[in-house]
Amino acid sequence: MVIVRTIEALQEAKKACVGTIGFVPTMGALHKGHLSLIQQARAENEHLIVSIFVNPTQFLEGEDLDAYPRKEEADIKICELAKVDILFMPTIEAMYEADELSIGAPAVRGYILEGQKRPGHFSGMLQVVMKLLNLSGATKAYFGKKDAQQLALINQMVKNYFMDVKIIACDIVRDENGLALSSRNVYLNAEEKKRALCLSRSLKRATKLVMVGELSVEVIQKEMLEVLEEADMVEYVAIVDRAFNPLVRVEIGNTIILAAAWVGKPRLIDNLWI
Ligand code: PAF
Repeated sequence: MVIVRTIEALQEAKKACVGTIGFVPTMGALHKGHLSLIQQARAENEHLIVSIFVNPTQFLEGEDLDAYPRKEEADIKICELAKVDILFMPTIEAMYEADELSIGAPAVRGYILEGQKRPGHFSGMLQVVMKLLNLSGATKAYFGKKDAQQLALINQMVKNYFMDVKIIACDIVRDENGLALSSRNVYLNAEEKKRALCLSRSLKRATKLVMVGELSVEVIQKEMLEVLEEADMVEYVAIVDRAFNPLVRVEIGNTIILAAAWVGKPRLIDNLWI
C-alpha cells in the first residue's frame, strides 16, 4: 500500500492502476461499516483507492472540526490489512484554495431532514466528493446506505454533472442486536444501547405493516413514533422515494423509511430501503 498526501503523489501512484479502480472516500476513524465498503470495493475492482480527509467545508460554523475523531495510525493498519493499493490522505491546503467556486446542494432535497438540521452541510459534502471522485478516476465509488440522503445527493450530482463513475450503495452494517454501526455508538452506555434499538425496531414495525399491505405513510409514521417513544427525543420519521421526494404512499422498490432520534448523548439515524 502506498500512502500519498499530495495531488501530485496521487497522480504518480495512479499510473500503476491499469484497469478498474474502486474508490472509498472516508473521514477516517474507520469502523466495521467502512471496512465493509472497502472489502466490497476490493472484491469488485482491480485497484483500490481509499481517502481519509476530514473535510472542513461540510462542518458548519459552531460544529467542532477539531473534535472530530482522528485515528491515523489505526486507520493505516486497517487499510493495509484490507489490501488497499493507494491511501490518499491530503492536507486541507492540497484540496482547497482561497476563493473557490462552489457547488450547491439542491434547494429542496439538500435542505430537508439532515439538511434542515445542518443547513449547508450537503453543499460542502458534494464539493469534496466531486473533487475526490475527479482525483481518484474511480470506475466505481462506494457509499453506505446509512447516510441515505448523502447518497441520494451524490447520485444526483453524478447525474446532473454527467460524471463518469458508478455509485455503489452498500448495505447498512449492524451489530448482533440490530443497532446500525456508527462512530457515535461509543457514547452510548449499556442502558442507552438497549433503548437505541428502538430505531431499528421502528423500521421493523414499518416493514411488518408494509408486508400486510399497509402503504399509507401517515399510518406507518404514527406506528413508528409509538416504538420510538423509548428514545429521549425523536427528530424525524420520514418516508421518501429513493431521490428523497416525499411520498404519501409507500412505493415498493422505490422507498426509503428514515428515523433520527437522540438517545443519551448521541443523535442516531437509521433507515430501511423498501
Ligand atoms: O460520509 C462521509 O464520511 C463523508 O461525508 C464523505 C463522503 C467522505 C465526504 O467527506
